[in-house]
Amino acid sequence: MDFKNRDVISIKDFSKEEIIYVINYAKKMMPYAKGEKHIDILKGKILSTLFFEPSTRTRLSFESAMNRLGGRVIGFADPNATSQKKGESLADTIRMADSYSDVIVIRHPQEGAARLSTEFAESPVLNAGDGAGHHPTQCLLDLFTIVTEKKKIKGDKIVLLGDLKYGRTVHSLAYALSLLGAELSFVSPESLKMPKEIINECKEQGPEPSSTSNLEKAVKDADVLYVTRIQRERFPDAEEYNRVVGTYKVDINLLKYAKEDLIIMHPLPRVVEIDPEVDKTPHALYFKQAFNGVPVRMALLSLILGDRQL
Ligand code: NCD
Repeated sequence: MDFKNRDVISIKDFSKEEIIYVINYAKKMMPYAKGEKHIDILKGKILSTLFFEPSTRTRLSFESAMNRLGGRVIGFADPNATSQKKGESLADTIRMADSYSDVIVIRHPQEGAARLSTEFAESPVLNAGDGAGHHPTQCLLDLFTIVTEKKKIKGDKIVLLGDLKYGRTVHSLAYALSLLGAELSFVSPESLKMPKEIINECKEQGPEPSSTSNLEKAVKDADVLYVTRIQRERFPDAEEYNRVVGTYKVDINLLKYAKEDLIIMHPLPRVVEIDPEVDKTPHALYFKQAFNGVPVRMALLSLILGDRQL
């Protein structure tokens, strides 16, 4: 298994075995991610975080991961405070980050921006979300969370709910879950259905996903309910957003239909789609899921950059 200096642009670039390897390695990182034990296997290395779009968890957990491994971080969270504002091209910004650091994490509103960045960087590039495209590191932490809680993925009944058209987390996750043999069910407003190409890719990898608009029915025998935010910033038309926001809501009422051990996940930020009352129930896993970004990103950074491993 060779991860050294690899770009991480799409989860499709990984084989099933590689995904499982990263998940298992992330388990070993847990005590280090929590700060209970200490390591410095990335001492002397620098990560740059180039965030052209808002982020809380992805950026901070990458920073935490790099710091926990003994490395250092430079970067920006607001492109308006960079030379982009003066008209600099993405290519030139990437060239500079490449010369100042050993690995680049980029989030950008345009699909394909991360892949394009690899052409201007010698250092590995990690895609932290490209428009409605991919979000491979989120996908790995989502898979890690399911495996940790459910012990397996094959045969699990997993419902993906919400904005399946623009949500990049569900685009990556649907593919990976199919590859790992989960039974998928898609629930979304009619106008925000999972894109056909992704459904086709899922079918090629594993069991055929089903689609429904009936959330109660889908939740009834689900093992995992993965909820997403309606991606307001991707709507060409504000009117359309207003029409669909609030179509589905996960609340205590809905949980009456759920199995006792259903877990509810969400990449966060949540807006209105999960009632805060749900947070107190044993179903709510989203905050733990967000923490899992640290051990998973530690595992990836260490595999890509480290001269030695744990
Ligand atoms: C997601 C994203 O940016 O795609 N957030 C995240 O990385 N945890 C989901 C979202 O913004 O809705």
